Amino acid sequence: MAAASSQSALFFHDAEQLLTLAGPPVPRRRRDLGELGIVREGAVLVANGVIVAAGRTRDLESEARRRKAHRIDCRGRVVMPGFVDSHTHLVFAGSRVDDYVRRLQGATYEEIAAAGGGIRLTARLVAEARPKILVSQALAFLDEFAACGTTTAEVKTGYGLNVEGEIKLLRVVGQLMKGSRGKTAKIELIPTLLAAHALPAGFEASRENYLDGVVNGLIPFASRYRLARFIDCFCDRGAFTVEECRRVLEAGRRQGLEARVHAGQFARTGATLLAVELNAASADHLDCLTRIDVRALARSETVATLLPGSNFHLGLSRYPDARRLIDAGAAIALATDFNPGTSPTLNMQFILSLACDAMRLTPAEAISAATINAAYSLRCAERIGSLDPGKQGDLIVLGVDDYRKIPYYFAWNHCLLTLKRGRIVYSRLDSG
Ligand code: NIG
Ligand code: FE
Repeated sequence: MAAASSQSALFFHDAEQLLTLAGPPVPRRRRDLGELGIVREGAVLVANGVIVAAGRTRDLESEARRRKAHRIDCRGRVVMPGFVDSHTHLVFAGSRVDDYVRRLQGATYEEIAAAGGGIRLTARLVAEARPKILVSQALAFLDEFAACGTTTAEVKTGYGLNVEGEIKLLRVVGQLMKGSRGKTAKIELIPTLLAAHALPAGFEASRENYLDGVVNGLIPFASRYRLARFIDCFCDRGAFTVEECRRVLEAGRRQGLEARVHAGQFARTGATLLAVELNAASADHLDCLTRIDVRALARSETVATLLPGSNFHLGLSRYPDARRLIDAGAAIALATDFNPGTSPTLNMQFILSLACDAMRLTPAEAISAATINAAYSLRCAERIGSLDPGKQGDLIVLGVDDYRKIPYYFAWNHCLLTLKRGRIVYSRLDSG
């Protein structure tokens, strides 16, 4: 495999199932969510980092030969777009393994947070960590993302909890986006300023002052230096109120940052309606939804991003009502929510299993939610999320002969090869 340079054309041929997800760069809703554009004996030709063609192997052979493409035999395998993980908290220090064990013994996530643990604990560890350490831990995680088939990930800040701390995290994300040690980043990162995540200790009596700093200091800085694409808030019981989040998100929008919202994870506070009202790109979690919330999402362009990894890790028996959202016509996406407190997994394949087993999605629906719909929520659907000609050469080869086996064989890593912009960033294929 190493012989194939990033510039040479690559021909992935004879896939048992090629999932193209071909179609317009818009989110798939209702029945369309289950349409994967499957081609048997499928092939994809990639050149100069871009998809040249995707279709039947025999129809692409002559073009592949003309371009002297390096051939990659995909017999017995599934080829599909790389996963788009549209909600992660990639940059943190340490772990929360002590919180985890306390929860196993009966404490709840919210109790631990209220006692100064949770996000505030991670924030203390982040404040102590040198940027170099944050970068190297994140790089190790990014290798794993690539190995599990993720080719694009959104990355939130949020553990800085003050202007300087958040700027430090934005810079770390910026460094990760550029790559390290002279190497291009393995996967693409889309930065989100999680401007209001938890109130730092000492601000209990002056919440306004804290938010003044966010609105007048942090947001203009992030925008001026183009350090973030989106702005996010934790709008929930025990975090920030709807009015506080409205203030922060509107300030972000005025500076060109589109909204994403942590909404309805623990309580229904009106966060989902706020997200829709502000035409947010995404409303995330959505464990607590009313009929009004569902209807509002269904009529909107706001993607309902479901994060079942957090339900699983928090040991909850309740999961977001994905079927109700799909049936109402909402656009849904799936993401890992990779973070030390509620979802320490970065494997989108496991998220597909949770989506199917715990939320009753079909494997096909879960795959659309984890690729094209997630790409739309990141405003990237014109260039990623499906294998349409002209899009980036972002694809994965999986060691199964039927896409339904991806969630079925749960907690495996089926990914054999990951291609990012036409470059092989991970491979354990034995032959090329
Ligand atoms: O998405 N809910 C808020 N934020 C994260 C948890 C972050 C943490 O606990 O460190 C989430 O679940
Ligand atoms: Fe989150």
